[in-house]
Amino acid sequence: MQTKIKTIGIITSGGDAPGMNACIRAITRSAIHNNINTLGFKRGYNGLIENDFIELNSKDVSNIIQRGGTILKTARSEQFKTKEGREKAFHNLQKNNVDALIAIGGDGTFTGASIFIKEFNIPIIGIPGTIDNDLYGTDYTIGYDTALNTVVQAVDKLRDTASSHGRLFVVEVMGKDAGFIALRSGIATGAEAILIPETTTYINHLLQKLSQDKSKKKPSSIILVAEGDDFGGAYKVAEAVKESHPEYDIRVTVLGHIQRGGSPSASDRVLASQLGAGAVEFLLRGEEDVMIGIINKDLVLTPFNQAIKHNQKINTNLLELADILSI
Ligand code: F6P
Repeated sequence: MQTKIKTIGIITSGGDAPGMNACIRAITRSAIHNNINTLGFKRGYNGLIENDFIELNSKDVSNIIQRGGTILKTARSEQFKTKEGREKAFHNLQKNNVDALIAIGGDGTFTGASIFIKEFNIPIIGIPGTIDNDLYGTDYTIGYDTALNTVVQAVDKLRDTASSHGRLFVVEVMGKDAGFIALRSGIATGAEAILIPETTTYINHLLQKLSQDKSKKKPSSIILVAEGDDFGGAYKVAEAVKESHPEYDIRVTVLGHIQRGGSPSASDRVLASQLGAGAVEFLLRGEEDVMIGIINKDLVLTPFNQAIKHNQKINTNLLELADILSI
């Protein structure tokens, strides 16, 4: 394979996601397979600006496939949003003979990458790494499956105590712009209601449903709320329910950052390995300014501007399914 690329830089940027380490491992080892060096820059774009990096060889990435978080650390770089910051970053890449970059992250990461390519003409491929699953151009993002399983385990536990006490739990999960975690975990846990940012929340519908549930003497209820839901989050929902249904004994649980940690699931490890190796292959074939993803089992490339701007469509049929199944 003919290529001018001798050294690839890697960053993890934005919110961390389980499977990022598996991806760093895959990139490093695929690069070695192609006689290419890899430098891992620390704390996302900040590492490029501060020239803070480590050389990655095979041993540096051993025993990390199963670890959550990211060995390269991560950040949302404010400095990289400035021209001056990006100039410093480019200067450091040149100084270290870095020919191309692989950026693992989400929306913000790819927005920065796209601007950087246009200004300095450096090849970059993005890998979707976010628990939110909100990127167009891939069926799943790295970290989503693990986060989903974390939520399911937590909600199953809440269901145990909810049934014992005959309580209603309002559970808030992550997703400031997207309801993928809430929707799928809601189906998987048999939630009585699921509230997501992609659809308008009509609180009266929910209150009516709770009245029906009460008359059916349901032993417990779980309402799953994505943090970005337009009604304003779990506490607001709990208040509204309490006001109209004082008979319900209500508790609120905000799962928070527990959803971002933990050992990646088998699916996330495999996805991260395929995307990491694929990104190296595509860089060597001259691709850039794209995010790599997997759709229907195939590796696909999506231009950054589409991955960021197009909405990953949520399957609202699942909301209906949740309604039908939670009678
Ligand atoms: O990783 C994405 C995400 O989990 C969002 O769902 C959430 O709103 C956000 O990150 C919170 O991240 P942080 O606390 O790091 O700002």
